[in-house]
Amino acid sequence: MRLLASAAVAVLLALVAAYVQLSISISRLQQKPLPRVHCDQEAGGEEAVARFAKLLTYNTISSIDALHHVNQPAEFEAVHKHLRESYPFVWTHAKAEQVCEYSLLVTWQGANESALPVLFVSHVDVVPIGGNEDKWTHPPFGGVVADGCIWGRGAVDVKISVAAILESWNQLMKDGHTPERTMILAVGHDEETSGRLGAGCMAGILKDRGVTLEAIFDEGGCVASSGISFIKSPVALIATAEKGYTDVLVGVHSPGGHSSMPPTDGSTSAAILSRVINHAENHRPAVALLPPATDFVQFMAPYAPLAIRPLLKFCDKWPLNWLVARVLYRLSPETAAMVSTTVATTNVRAGVSGNVLPLDASAVFNIRTLPGTVLQELVDYFYDVGQRVAGSAAGKISVKLRPPESGEIGNDPSNVTSSSGSAFATLMRAVQEAMVVEGEAPVVAPYLVMGGTDSKHYAALSVGGTLRFVPMALDIRAGELARVHGIDERIEVPAYKQAVCAYKQITKRFGAAQWAA
Ligand SMILES: *[C@@H]1O[C@H](CO)[C@@H](O)[C@H](O)[C@H]1NC(C)=O
Ligand SMILES: *[C@@H]1O[C@H](CO)[C@@H](O)[C@H](O)[C@H]1NC(C)=O
Ligand SMILES: [Zn+2]
Repeated sequence: MRLLASAAVAVLLALVAAYVQLSISISRLQQKPLPRVHCDQEAGGEEAVARFAKLLTYNTISSIDALHHVNQPAEFEAVHKHLRESYPFVWTHAKAEQVCEYSLLVTWQGANESALPVLFVSHVDVVPIGGNEDKWTHPPFGGVVADGCIWGRGAVDVKISVAAILESWNQLMKDGHTPERTMILAVGHDEETSGRLGAGCMAGILKDRGVTLEAIFDEGGCVASSGISFIKSPVALIATAEKGYTDVLVGVHSPGGHSSMPPTDGSTSAAILSRVINHAENHRPAVALLPPATDFVQFMAPYAPLAIRPLLKFCDKWPLNWLVARVLYRLSPETAAMVSTTVATTNVRAGVSGNVLPLDASAVFNIRTLPGTVLQELVDYFYDVGQRVAGSAAGKISVKLRPPESGEIGNDPSNVTSSSGSAFATLMRAVQEAMVVEGEAPVVAPYLVMGGTDSKHYAALSVGGTLRFVPMALDIRAGELARVHGIDERIEVPAYKQAVCAYKQITKRFGAAQWAA
């Protein structure tokens, strides 16, 4: 029995190790281009590619310190002009408004007034280049099409979705298509710097207009065209939840004193703080296999070797949930992040001089919380840690949520959208119809976004939850993820065309008044 159990654990370990090379393992550089659907005709051909490439030429970096969060207002104005000229049917067949200074809100009226609208969310701002401009193969704002790729900041995050959604809607309108359900597109201008002035403001407009949404469809997952060893097909990762975000500030106060006669009990502020840091780096507030990580593992079950399918299928049951969580936690930092609330020590301060004991010491802990976590729990957690490591100096410790640059104290993790609900089923169907590669549809799996998206601003308006996914194929093993927010961001031309085709199909499916069960 014991032997059997350890054998089962060994097999599970091997399996888990195999499939979670997924998403995230961006280290191995293995160039093996995968076949992709060619839908040139449908996607609008090279002209559609040129319209997208031009969008990449505008320097739309957002910045938390700038007025309206934009560095170069003229560039954002130029983007609006470019979109108006490139996708003219959208401006004639729908209500397209420039709102909240530099955001775009498109309302495509559906034929059936009693069906609730679906909100598509995207953003036109991008992250800075970070002084690495000379390391790029093509200029980051060059909009260059070369070597089968479209190059530039925003090619993946996420001007691709701005262009491909508008391209697909423009073509559908031109072909006389009208959705039954109203389709709304909200393109923010400051997603990379909190989204407060773009998405936050547009959510207010929709609320004022009395809009209730059937579902929200934002960025987040992608199609991983490599990465899971036992699945040959690409895997479409549709994120059904995103983590929360906050900074906790831990301070230690002490009387200071001369460094020639330090205390003998480790009670200086620097010593106490170092013990808090040491604990935080080696323990996490929560390690657990929870939805949607559970859903992800279960969706993988049918593709796993026969012997271990039951283990994956029942991973939500004790003790398998406990076991899988521990395995994933130990496997890699990426998989650990899937099953834990992460804590990173980011900003440590103490002392002013080489011969003076510091009065105050402080550290900032950047924390990404699992679904279900309440931010106040983190304050309690660090308070407890502080009490334990400080001994008699416990009263000298203060803990609080720190407002980060955006001025907010962070945000709660999202609710988890059901992966057995009709919104998920409808999107899954459209993706499998539109993204067939050599006769094979992608495998679809629910997923957890580690970062944040604009969708949180709209969440309260949706009765059917939020799905986060851009229908673009990225070759994970070839390091395509590392280019996002990095150097040489780019997307393959066929992948862009496929995104346009997919958005068309998604729009048609979401546009129906009755969704797939
Ligand atoms: C309009 O939408 C509602 C709600 O989805 C649905 O019940 C009804 O059948 C639709 N009507 C038509 C004519 O499609
Ligand atoms: C999750 O859902 C509950 C109940 O609908 C709601 O009150 C809460 O605000 C939601 N949380 C988030 C982060 O959207
Ligand atoms: Zn983004």
